[in-house]
Amino acid sequence: MESLLYAQLADNLIEHIQAGVYKVGEKMPSVRALAKAEQVSIATVNSAYAILEDRGWAEARPKSGYFVKRSSQSSIGLPSQIKVKTRPRAVTTKELALEVQREASSVKNRNFSCAIPDLKLSIASVIQKTFTRLSRAGSNLGEGYDATEGLFDLRQQVARRGIDGGVHISPESIITTVGAQNAISLALRAITQPGDIIAVESPCYFGLLQMIEAFGLKAIEIPADSETGMSVEALKLALQQWPIKTILCISTFSNPLGCTIPDEHKKEILDLVVEHDICLIEDDIYGELQFEGRRPKTFKAFDPDGRVLWCSSVSKTMDPQLRVGWIAPGRYYDEVLRQKYTNYLASPSLPQAVTADVMSKGLYDRHLRQARLLYKQRSEQLRDFARLYFPEETRASSPKGGLVTWFEMPKKVDATALYHQCRELDIRIAPGELFSISGLYKNYFRLNFANEWSSEREAALKTIGEHLKQAIHQA
Ligand SMILES: Cc1ncc(COP(=O)(O)O)c(C=O)c1O
Repeated sequence: MESLLYAQLADNLIEHIQAGVYKVGEKMPSVRALAKAEQVSIATVNSAYAILEDRGWAEARPKSGYFVKRSSQSSIGLPSQIKVKTRPRAVTTKELALEVQREASSVKNRNFSCAIPDLKLSIASVIQKTFTRLSRAGSNLGEGYDATEGLFDLRQQVARRGIDGGVHISPESIITTVGAQNAISLALRAITQPGDIIAVESPCYFGLLQMIEAFGLKAIEIPADSETGMSVEALKLALQQWPIKTILCISTFSNPLGCTIPDEHKKEILDLVVEHDICLIEDDIYGELQFEGRRPKTFKAFDPDGRVLWCSSVSKTMDPQLRVGWIAPGRYYDEVLRQKYTNYLASPSLPQAVTADVMSKGLYDRHLRQARLLYKQRSEQLRDFARLYFPEETRASSPKGGLVTWFEMPKKVDATALYHQCRELDIRIAPGELFSISGLYKNYFRLNFANEWSSEREAALKTIGEHLKQAIHQA
């Protein structure tokens, strides 16, 4: 816990600088005074100050102590909201998306391209040990197929965890799936016919766009704000103009913006859903990854009459290899269950049993507490490095949870060209054009911040920054 303590202390000190408690050039509290005031060891305070130095917030002056080095005024602005021509379009397959996905685990220390959690946290060995224990005990093996709706123990855990997000449902209303992608695909299969129009936020996670294409559906892009997500006004207009079949929405700490739709907007969107007699597929895969405070409420929490199909998984919180997810499909339960049965019969039992076991013992919650704090620090570190190494025109989202940050560059920067240049150097980023069906976001890219910072990762960011500066100055 000591390691978390100094990081927490560093965060508090940075917040104080940002709030103007300590001004640029001013002396910060002495190590001894701070240790006494916070009732922590001298070593803890020294480690906290080392973080501040690393991130450029403070500098040590010989025999004088620590001084504030910079103010929050030099912070990076938020990305601008792009104007989207809202009309339905067929999605075209992007080889690039497949390439990014295929190479998700390559060049581990220089890979920023995928929305993957830190797989080196201690939960990894917990999962491994639980697999060994349960498979030795022969649990869930030699019993034939799992029930199509999935393992009861897991559904029970999911129902219990849902309460934090305002979801009050029984295990019987949940169906387990092979990850969230599978949950959403079952929802789309249950609800739509080829040619139907799906409203998605823009920018939108490319895996969802690819799925819409694979099912012969059309997508309509609804602009999203980098803080509050899908524009309610734009959605309203689109619903008036087009026969939209369903809304597909990453409600909390979305990918790529990291934004969260405020509760008031959720209610307004659900009013529109009722008015137009449609439904909403909620992708809540990042919902439990808030950096601090309580987990935001889900759309499902405000579901008036079973119109929300709530989908999630443990891919972002534990490990995507588990392929464990779920859906609470509300009034579409029978159709979604039939889709799971006809397409997959059942999910593998052992990963479900392992997930349920880890959740039931409180190990999942313990892990989440650690992961949230680490991801908060790492996202701030990414911002700090961007401030240091990227061009001054850089704009970036400021996520309050999740795993990714969305960067905007001046129009002359071609982020797809940057992706290829980086790939040559064994560095991976996710280029912005993947996140649109209408050629938007060519000067944007997404970076993952979940992995531990190392000198190699920092050097990779510096290289990205050099290429960006070159692109700006050449054009
Ligand atoms: C928003 C979103 N939904 C779904 C998925 C896929 O989730 P899973 O691995 O659980 O299928 C991802 C993975 O990146 C994602 O970012």
